[in-house]
Amino acid sequence: MKKSRKKRLRKKLIQKRLANKRLGIKRNKGKVIDMQSMKERLIIALDVDTAKEAMELVRLLGSHVGMFKVGLQLFTAMGPGIIEMIHAHGSRIFLDLKLHDIPNTVARTCRVLTGYGVDMFNVHASGGFAMMQKAREAVFEEAEKKGIIKPALIAVTVLTSLDRDELAEAGFAGTPEETAVKLALLAQRAGLDGVVSSPRETGLIRDACGSKFLIVTPGVRPAFSESGDQKRTATPREAVAAGSSCLVIGRPVTAAADPLEAVEKIIAEMEDGLC
Ligand code: C5P
Repeated sequence: MKKSRKKRLRKKLIQKRLANKRLGIKRNKGKVIDMQSMKERLIIALDVDTAKEAMELVRLLGSHVGMFKVGLQLFTAMGPGIIEMIHAHGSRIFLDLKLHDIPNTVARTCRVLTGYGVDMFNVHASGGFAMMQKAREAVFEEAEKKGIIKPALIAVTVLTSLDRDELAEAGFAGTPEETAVKLALLAQRAGLDGVVSSPRETGLIRDACGSKFLIVTPGVRPAFSESGDQKRTATPREAVAAGSSCLVIGRPVTAAADPLEAVEKIIAEMEDGLC
């Protein structure tokens, strides 16, 4: 290779690294999630109202879990500044804003979210094929333009708080399982990286969408905790055994007297799921 070309490539690489550093992105060999490590597969939902509460959890649990989920509650309360604060701590983020709007609006919003340098974010699969496809294109283009690693784009199938009756009330004909699989296949066809779905549907989605598709699973209730408003729940062991890539857990950790102890117990339960 010519010396000048080598020099140009090196400069580009350094610029990319610096841009990633500015955005707080930790390089992970191009992989979104290390599937070998249960710790990396655990995402803690920061469902709190203040940066103080969120950062207390991040400081306490940051080196014990794979990612933090910033959802509507915290993002609406604190704005994008909370992303910078969590990144400054060196932790990874799943931004769970569940976008659902016309394709153009979702695509433009996806550009903004990609620019935040988060590791993963989501749209609602029920927004339709065109919306998901536009979202995916926007994420690719924006990541390339900024020279950053593309965040994983996933789609919510059926909220884990909905049971069959509520789903029918909202106008969905099939069972939660049938609806979730249908929406997961639609998301896959639109080129998304994976889905958010209940642990009860994980096995079916894994069979339908194959081993490479990300399945992010909320509605997980460790053996030691209560189910709260989540209806279609399973334990960490069951979710991992069924094929979930990552588990999203909120209250069983954030409301625990000892959140670190709760995380350790959950990781032990997840490891059981591999046996
Ligand atoms: O406290 P809990 O463990 O129930 O928190 C679950 C988290 O996962 C919440 O932040 C909720 O918004 C989110 N979630 C969900 N069901 C989905 C998608 C996300 O419960 N389908």
